[in-house]
Amino acid sequence: DMFADRRNSAGIDLSNESELKALADCLKQSADAAWRAQPLVPGLDAERKAQPVTNPADQSDVVGKVHHALERDAVHAMQVAARAAPRWAAAPLAERAACLDRAADAMEAAMPVLMGLIMREAGKTAANAVAEVREAVDFLRYYAVQAREGLTDTDTLGPVVCISPWNFPLAIFTGQVAAALVAGNPVLAKPAEETPLIAAQAVQLMHDAGVPIDVLQFLPGGGDVGAALVAAPQTAGVVFTGSTEVAKLIQRELASRLSATGGPIPLIAETGGQNAMIVDSSALAEQVVADVIASAFDSAGQRCSALRVLCLQEDIADRQLAMIRGALQELCIGNPVNLSTDVGPVITAEAKRTIDAHVARMASEGCRVERLDLPEEAAKGTFVTPTIIEIGSIAQLGREVFGPVLHVVRYKRRDLGKLVAAINATGYGLTFGLHTRLDETVRQVIAHVAAGNLYVNRNTIGAVVGVQPFGGRGLSGTGPKAGGPLYLGRLSSGASTDLSV
Ligand code: NAD
Ligand code: ALA
Repeated sequence: DMFADRRNSAGIDLSNESELKALADCLKQSADAAWRAQPLVPGLDAERKAQPVTNPADQSDVVGKVHHALERDAVHAMQVAARAAPRWAAAPLAERAACLDRAADAMEAAMPVLMGLIMREAGKTAANAVAEVREAVDFLRYYAVQAREGLTDTDTLGPVVCISPWNFPLAIFTGQVAAALVAGNPVLAKPAEETPLIAAQAVQLMHDAGVPIDVLQFLPGGGDVGAALVAAPQTAGVVFTGSTEVAKLIQRELASRLSATGGPIPLIAETGGQNAMIVDSSALAEQVVADVIASAFDSAGQRCSALRVLCLQEDIADRQLAMIRGALQELCIGNPVNLSTDVGPVITAEAKRTIDAHVARMASEGCRVERLDLPEEAAKGTFVTPTIIEIGSIAQLGREVFGPVLHVVRYKRRDLGKLVAAINATGYGLTFGLHTRLDETVRQVIAHVAAGNLYVNRNTIGAVVGVQPFGGRGLSGTGPKAGGPLYLGRLSSGASTDLSV
C-alpha cells in the first residue's frame, strides 16, 4: 500500500469545546511570551540590532522582536555551510529522514502554541492557523517518506538557499527546508521579513530533532540578505517562493554563473497567479457561492492560489452575483484572536495601500466596485474590506493584486474558447476553477487551460500535501510541484539538469 507509512496530520477540531479552550489558553500564554528571532549562524561576532514584530490586526500588540542578519552574515554563513556539506551528505539517509519525523511529531504536539503565534504574527484566522501547522507537519513527513523511497545516500547538491514568503510563514518555510535537508544539503533559511518569529520556532524544532546547527542556519532579514545568499559562490541550489518579480531576479543571477562543481545551479521558484474560475449556466448556484467566497476571501485573499477573476456566463451572472453579495455580508472581519473572525487583516500598511490604490484606480476607470464596511476595530490594524470589481475583460487585470479583491467578468457561451485563451494569455498558470455540470465542458476546458492546479466543482485553495501536489506554470513557477513526488529530485544531483549533452 503506497500510503501505508504516511498519514496527513489530523490537526485539531475547532468545533470541539475543549480544543477551543486549549487554543484560547495558548493565545493568552502566547501574548505573554517573549518571542524572538535572531540569526542562527555559528561564529557571529556580535548580537544584531533588534526590531519589534507587531500584529497586523492591532499595531499595539507587539508579538516579539527580531534581530536582522546583515549581508556579511550571509557570506559567513555560506562558508560555514560549505564546510558542513560533506558531513551532512555522508549522514545516512535514514538518519536525515528520522530528523524530519521527529520534528513533525514535536510540531504536531506544539500545534496550539504555534497556532497562537501564527494568528498574531501573520494575522491568520484560527482555521487557517490549524491548516498551516498541519501542512508544515505533512511536508516533514511526506518528504521523509519520499527520501526513503526515492533517494540514494550519495545524491546531494551542496548548500541550498531557502527563501520564503509571509503568507505561509510556517508551512512553506518548513516544506522548503525539510526537502533540501533530507536530500542531504546544508540549508540557509531566509524567512520573510514580516514573519520571522514562527520561522524561528520551526528552526528550533528541527535543531531539537537532531539537525546540526551548521547544517540548518537561519538568517532573518530582508531582500538584501536573500540576494546576498543567492549571489554567494558556494550556493548549489535555491528554493524560492514569493513574487514573480523577485523570482526573475534570482533566475537571472543564477543563470549568469555555474555552481562550484561546474554545473548549472538548480532553482525551484513558486510565484504568483491571476487565478480564474469559470462558472457556466449549468453550475449549482449555492455551491458556487460557498466556493467563490472561500477561494477569493479566505486568508483575506492572501494566497497565491486565491481566486482573482470570476467568469460568469451572462445568462446567470446577475442572479449568481446577487447570491455572492448576500454571502459576503455574512463575513466577520476583524482581529483573528477573536475566534469567530472569517477575514483578518492584510500583512502590512504597504500591502493595504497597494490594494486600496488598485481598487480606487478601477473605480476611476468606471468599473462597478462593491465593498463591505469595515468594523471600528479595523482602524487598529491594516485591514482591507472584501471587494468585488466588475471588469469588461480579462486583459484589464494587469498585475496580481494580493488581497481580498475579486474581479468579475461576464462571458457568452459561444465565447468560451476565447475566454480560456484570454486566461492563458495572462501568462500566469497557477490555479484554475471550473463550475459546470456538463461533462463535455469539463473535458474541453480542462484540455485547454494552462494552469498547474485545476479544480472542478470545488474551491481553488488548500491543496493537500501528498494528495494534490501544488505548483504553477509560466509566470507562476518552475515546478516541480511542492508536496509531490518529483520535488526532491530537483534538490539532489542525480536529477539536476547538466551540461553533458
Ligand atoms: P516577495 O517576493 O516580496 O518576497 C518573498 C521572499 O523573497 C521574502 O523572503 C523576501 O525577503 C525575499 N526577497 C525579496 N527580494 C529579494 C531579492 N532581491 N533576492 C532574494 N530574496 C529576496 O513575496 P511576498 O510578498 O513575501 O509573498 C507574496 C507573493 O508570494 C505573492 O506574489 C504570492 O502569489 C507568492 N506566493 C506563491 C506561492 C506558490 O506556491 N506559488 C505561495 C505563496 C506565495
Ligand atoms: N498550497 C496553498 C493553497 O493551495 C498555497 O492554497
